[in-house]
Amino acid sequence: MSTSLEGRTVVVTGGGQGLGRAYAQRVAADGGTAVIADINTESGEKVAAEITEAGGNARFHYLDVGDQASCRAFAEFVDREFGSLHGLVNNAAIFSTIVMRPFWEIPVEEWDRLMAVNLRGPFLLTTALLPALRLGGDSSIVNVSSDAVWLGRAGYLHYTASKGGVTGMTYSMARELGGDGIRVNAISPGPTYTEVPRGTVSAAQKEAMHAAQALHRDAGPEDMVGVVAFLLSDDSRFITGQVLSVSGGLLHR
Ligand SMILES: NC(=O)c1ccc[n+]([C@@H]2O[C@H](COP(=O)([O-])OP(=O)(O)OC[C@H]3O[C@@H](n4cnc5c(N)ncnc54)[C@H](O)[C@@H]3O)[C@@H](O)[C@H]2O)c1
Repeated sequence: MSTSLEGRTVVVTGGGQGLGRAYAQRVAADGGTAVIADINTESGEKVAAEITEAGGNARFHYLDVGDQASCRAFAEFVDREFGSLHGLVNNAAIFSTIVMRPFWEIPVEEWDRLMAVNLRGPFLLTTALLPALRLGGDSSIVNVSSDAVWLGRAGYLHYTASKGGVTGMTYSMARELGGDGIRVNAISPGPTYTEVPRGTVSAAQKEAMHAAQALHRDAGPEDMVGVVAFLLSDDSRFITGQVLSVSGGLLHR
């Protein structure tokens, strides 16, 4: 299957590490320009340099997706440097740094910050980038949900609630932007292991997940990138408002 992104400019939020890094690398490998947006300037610049050193097109710009002024400044950068935009992967989230705990122990300040980034962030950034996405024509937005929503995974209620919100946002955004020819879908990964260590999956939980999946193995970024590239490309031109589980058959919906 061809997933050509030749000549396309695609913003990948949270592109400084983990899955976002892999999405940015894939955008460039498929001929597009990856615009990496991250709150971590050091890691974001490093990924952009890795891509350009490998012969691809990439740029980095600082973004705090939870902050409206930062989203607007980022959109100005996109306007100035690229004029229009063809794709947006709303991948940035507070995730690998989450401390698992019962919901009644989650500090309200942590709840608010996580919601600001994970849920308000895709709303703020998509809104700021809409003029550029409209100019791009046949643009595609890929939101990032999580199968943790459907599993009702315990230990990070703010996270599952935020990703449930991203799912609803995907359905509604697709309806509201269809008239502009802009598609909006979401990828919903199951547990996926990247170069980033994290405490959100214990060894026992990992075993239980393997058993619950139809495919009894770990997932890595390479299991996700093709799906995102497909959703960004014209190969998925008549798909919108869909949330695609990519979790080795963890769920049957
Ligand atoms: N890895 C998994 O198992 C898994 C499963 C389901 C869904 N997801 C989702 O996939 C996405 C990527 O996951 P990951 O494992 O790469 O996570 P990660 O925590 O390793 O990376 C998150 C990235 O987002 C950036 N970021 C955090 N706050 C930001 C902000 N305010 N503004 C801009 N950038 C910010 C971080 O600097 C980092 O580069 C997330 O949305 C996550 O919820 C991951």
